[in-house]
Amino acid sequence: MDFAEVHLKRGRDEAVAEKSPWIFSGAIHAVREFEHDGQPCKVFLGDRIVATGYINTQTNIAVRVLEYADVEIDRAFLCRRLETSRTMKETLLQGSTDAYRLVHAEGDLLPGLVVDRYGDYLVVQSSTAGMDALRKDLVPVLVDLFRPMGILEKSTSTSRKTEGLEEVRQVLYGEVPDEVVITEHGLRYVVDLAGGQKTGFFLDQRENRRIIAQHAAGRTALNAYCYSATIGLCMHKAGAASVHNVDLSEGALALAARNYALNGIAPGEDEFQVADVKDFLAEMPDDRYDLVVLDPPKFTASKRTVGAAIKGYKHINMLALRKIQPGGLLFTFSCSGLVDMELFRKIVFYAAKDAGRDARIVRALSADVDHCLSVYHRENEYLKGLMLYVA
Ligand SMILES: C[S@@+](CC[C@H](N)C(=O)[O-])C[C@H]1O[C@@H](n2cnc3c(N)ncnc32)[C@H](O)[C@@H]1O
Repeated sequence: MDFAEVHLKRGRDEAVAEKSPWIFSGAIHAVREFEHDGQPCKVFLGDRIVATGYINTQTNIAVRVLEYADVEIDRAFLCRRLETSRTMKETLLQGSTDAYRLVHAEGDLLPGLVVDRYGDYLVVQSSTAGMDALRKDLVPVLVDLFRPMGILEKSTSTSRKTEGLEEVRQVLYGEVPDEVVITEHGLRYVVDLAGGQKTGFFLDQRENRRIIAQHAAGRTALNAYCYSATIGLCMHKAGAASVHNVDLSEGALALAARNYALNGIAPGEDEFQVADVKDFLAEMPDDRYDLVVLDPPKFTASKRTVGAAIKGYKHINMLALRKIQPGGLLFTFSCSGLVDMELFRKIVFYAAKDAGRDARIVRALSADVDHCLSVYHRENEYLKGLMLYVA
């Protein structure tokens, strides 16, 4: 393999010192032996190789580090990484599901790559030129390790544009059906691989589904931004008095009804409504529910729009808090990476203040264990949530 050489500026070795998976262009003194963006590279501090990764000269994050050592980037390397991730995920999830995130990008030391496993099928997402270049080695390794029936590539993240890449949707191996059925904590869900959001399913909310269900018995619940109503279904099974599932997408609610049916519940037993949650909440009388889940889509992907996102989160949380009876619960989430937990807490504080409600944080929530984070990299901590007791 031909590696580019990336020489760091003197005194700009902070990324190396902190073992960050990202090296920014400003820290680079010179690039030699460069052939193309996405090329594997060795990172030099003086005449010493300190890291191996891949380079993109078009982006602010110029190098994504695969290992802080001088290593080969080949099938054996990918195999080691994937085996470690599989062992970790399967050990931690203890057979509770046949669907999990096998590779969570930087969290699993494979920047730019997501691999989700849905039973016998794998869905791969590459967000960088470097990962696109490694695809030809990745596929045979995935086939050897998992013997899947099929591998689908769904590389559709907006960050591909920054890398100068088009969206890619293709079958990389075998045959892939449009849908599969997975089992999580004893419940079955349809995963829309072809047309669904993300890689087809919100795997990250697995543990939160369980936590929310633990508190649902007897409650009048609203599942706002419900997608395929997985949280609603868990609350129903846990004995909620009623569940109102609301989403803007008709397709999502069609999936939701099928998920209910798949688990032996007539969809008529709960409510499903296509609506914009903001309008829906604005029209609801106060004190209507005693459990509300707010799991909106990402409100911002860029620093320029963080201000608008803060306003948006505050508004929906304020509305939701007004609709909750004293003694009720709010489970509120944000999946915007640019809104960290500290900021999210502040937003919820202002929402409670303006709603005039005494809301108490009883639990902090996050993505489940298969969405691990590298201690050397905070940036991919995207999903955060709070469980609030509304007195
Ligand atoms: C993060 S997902 C929810 C995932 C879901 N809680 C789960 O665990 O499967 C966000 C959902 O919000 C929906 N959505 C986006 N904008 C909306 C809006 N203004 N009103 C209602 N739903 C909206 C999307 O269709 C999507 O299904």
